Amino acid sequence: MAHVDPPKVTIPASSKFGGETLELYLSSEQIQQKVKEIAGRISEHYRDKCPIMIGVLNGSFVFMADLVRALDIEFEVDFIKLSSYGSETASTGTVRLLKDISADITGRDVIVVEDIVDTGLTIKFLRNRLQEASPTSVTFVSLLLKDEIAKLDFPLDYVGFNIPNRFVVGYGLDVDQKFRGLTAIYAFKEN
Ligand code: IMP
Repeated sequence: MAHVDPPKVTIPASSKFGGETLELYLSSEQIQQKVKEIAGRISEHYRDKCPIMIGVLNGSFVFMADLVRALDIEFEVDFIKLSSYGSETASTGTVRLLKDISADITGRDVIVVEDIVDTGLTIKFLRNRLQEASPTSVTFVSLLLKDEIAKLDFPLDYVGFNIPNRFVVGYGLDVDQKFRGLTAIYAFKEN
């Protein structure tokens, strides 16, 4: 039977933001279609190459898992963990490196896989840091981009969806570390 995304999700009263209702924003089907499309473009671009896909933890693990399974090229996988958010729904303004990559990326093609670019702080930090290791190339994939507020002085190479400035959860994205397992993406109500 086809998967049906619930139209609303209510945050349990016991949890932070308890009682708030989240609305379906991007369905599982829309997401899966987009993942296939991005994977197709990456496979085309990196044909006969073997890029290192670097997932930005924690949020990107679900997107990363679907994306790499839709590729039809050789690739390697690594992860980096950064933090610009506390447990609230706003950026703290500083980026901390919590876990570095293990791979040697010198002379390699690197593809950074992000779940969401909000202010752009995390991805800017990442770009500077990765470039210090002299990779052959660094490209950026983000499933979501809050294009009204992201302040980037370089383009993202692959963007799934441009979204307004609303806090979203599901498909790897959390609020207070919860809701990462939802297969669709849900948004807090607009104020
Ligand atoms: P930035 O540094 O402001 O671009 O924020 C990037 C990080 O903030 C993402 O990798 C997410 O972990 C988190 N983030 C930003 N917006 C959202 C959201 O709407 N939902 C969940 N996490 C978010």
